[in-house]
Amino acid sequence: MNVAPSSTYPRAARRTSCLGTFLLVLVLWSFSVVALAAYLVVRSAIVRQVRVGWWAVFLAAAALLGLEVAIFEATGDGLVDLLRLHVHPWWLLLHGYGIGSLVTWPLTIFACQAPLGMPVGAMVGALSVARGERLAAGAEWSPYSQRQALVAEVHAVRSVARATRRHHEPTNPGKPPALGIAYPGGDLYPWLRKRGRVTEVVIPEREQRLAMAVLGIPSSGKTVTLLRRVWIAARSGMRVVFVDCKGTDPGLAWQVTCAYRLANPGATVGFWPTQALDCWRGDGMAIANRLLAVEDWAAEGDGLYYRRMATLALQLACTPPSGPPRNSQDFLRRLDHKKLQQLWRGDPTAQADLEQLAADPTVLAGVRGRYSAFFRALAGTADGRWSLEDVDLAVLTIPTIASRTDADAAVRLVLEDLGHFATRRKPRVGDDVLLVLDEFSAVQGSTDQAIHLAERLRDVGVPVVFGAQSPEGLGDERQQWRLLHTIGGGLVLHQLADPDRLIELAGTVRVPEQAWQLDPWARPARPGSTWSTGPGSTPTRSASCIPARPSSSRPAGPSDCQSCRPRCRPRRRRRPAPCAPPR
Ligand SMILES: Nc1ncnc2c1ncn2[C@@H]1O[C@H](COP(=O)(O)OP(=O)(O)OP(=O)(O)O)[C@@H](O)[C@H]1O
Ligand SMILES: [Mg+2]
Repeated sequence: MNVAPSSTYPRAARRTSCLGTFLLVLVLWSFSVVALAAYLVVRSAIVRQVRVGWWAVFLAAAALLGLEVAIFEATGDGLVDLLRLHVHPWWLLLHGYGIGSLVTWPLTIFACQAPLGMPVGAMVGALSVARGERLAAGAEWSPYSQRQALVAEVHAVRSVARATRRHHEPTNPGKPPALGIAYPGGDLYPWLRKRGRVTEVVIPEREQRLAMAVLGIPSSGKTVTLLRRVWIAARSGMRVVFVDCKGTDPGLAWQVTCAYRLANPGATVGFWPTQALDCWRGDGMAIANRLLAVEDWAAEGDGLYYRRMATLALQLACTPPSGPPRNSQDFLRRLDHKKLQQLWRGDPTAQADLEQLAADPTVLAGVRGRYSAFFRALAGTADGRWSLEDVDLAVLTIPTIASRTDADAAVRLVLEDLGHFATRRKPRVGDDVLLVLDEFSAVQGSTDQAIHLAERLRDVGVPVVFGAQSPEGLGDERQQWRLLHTIGGGLVLHQLADPDRLIELAGTVRVPEQAWQLDPWARPARPGSTWSTGPGSTPTRSASCIPARPSSSRPAGPSDCQSCRPRCRPRRRRRPAPCAPPR
């Protein structure tokens, strides 16, 4: 429960006094039984719900009283008339008028005292809840504090929803658009921008150029956040490559296109595998590396030997003096001993390599079989005419082909092509590209490749944005650690089963944590213990630097997210102990 963050000096918590409550009831009863009834009803209504705070009820009652005074003012002596009406039943009694029947007398009292008694009773009821909340001083165990926190939460949700409905993007093209609307609280200051009464979350210019990760359980809104990020990139004139590694949503490619074209209506868009991609650009060595990425090679035992021989075969097929293959048929034709000899005629070193390959004919046959099956599964979608440098937006969806292994291999091939495009085929500066990998953990063996891309592409103007369902989706422990530490552009957390581990990445701040002594006869704690029961103690503990409602009791919904900027500087704050222990 995110109760009353201690932005002021810690206070001792107390309960409302029984004697005080009794006196209040007595005073109200003597003022009017209607006021007493209104006080009891309003007070119990306020504490039983979390939508309306005491201040709203108080203001409504005060407004009603003001209206009544205005009406009486317009028709007579105003407040004096209202008071006269209030005491009218007792005046009748004093002057010998009968009280009538048991029905008419209470009705007379109600009719005369309701105009003043009801608003006064409601105002006193609201103020008594306010006093209860103040005395609770944010203590987690107090029902007043718990309700106060829930009211604040509901209030924040409503104000964010209202701000989202009324939100307009900045017309000034120099101002970066917002990623979302901020909830009140949190300390993500460099990401917050005030516009009127709304606080926007804006990715700072510098961090837009760095890798980012969006994590959340299914249906928590990751893809919607990524679509927003695509739109922001399009607004800043970046090209976008969106890789949908899950491939289960047929409408996603269209949504990405709409998000991009909203900012850049004339953008050229390429869809893969609907439109065949040309994966044969670049020099022979780049093509050989791309083809090597397709296979999940063993790194030890006999597999290592096979991998080296297969690498040799691929390099010989792709780097002859006559030029590299420019489509899959050409490449597969070259995976033949006679053809290779013909391509490398006159090169004694290559001939020696070919003799070594010929010593074990299963190598070349195995390599050919593997790549033949792979390109057959792709059905020509790697032999197209467009490539990433030809479009503003490329939407690459994992192909729905029978073998999952081949589909994953196809994505690895495309990612390798992307690495080559970013490092060799596009200008190093002035042509930035955003690479979005949605659900990238769905692709087997892609983690290392993605980490490699994030590390390698950062300084050629290609920030990578990862979308995954959990930290485990980012690979094994070593890979997670590597990946999370390459993320300099922020970690956006949607609803997660265990967010604490990730929130720790944001660094820590020292905040005072208040303790309440609930048992007045308890022994004082041993020196050095964390939780002291000594009078007025305030043990200070380290807490995570968390920007947005970190410990809220409500699970984050689809539109909620929390962002962390890794490596924020730790700060120290110390507060004096509360002056009096609670009773
Ligand atoms: N900011 C938002 N505001 C309103 N609704 C949202 C928001 N973000 C997401 N949603 C709703 O939540 C639904 C799920 O969102 P989304 O597809 O982005 O989740 P996801 O985390 O990508 O799910 P999956 O893991 O299944 O791909 C969307 O259809 C959308 O209606
Ligand atoms: Mg999704």
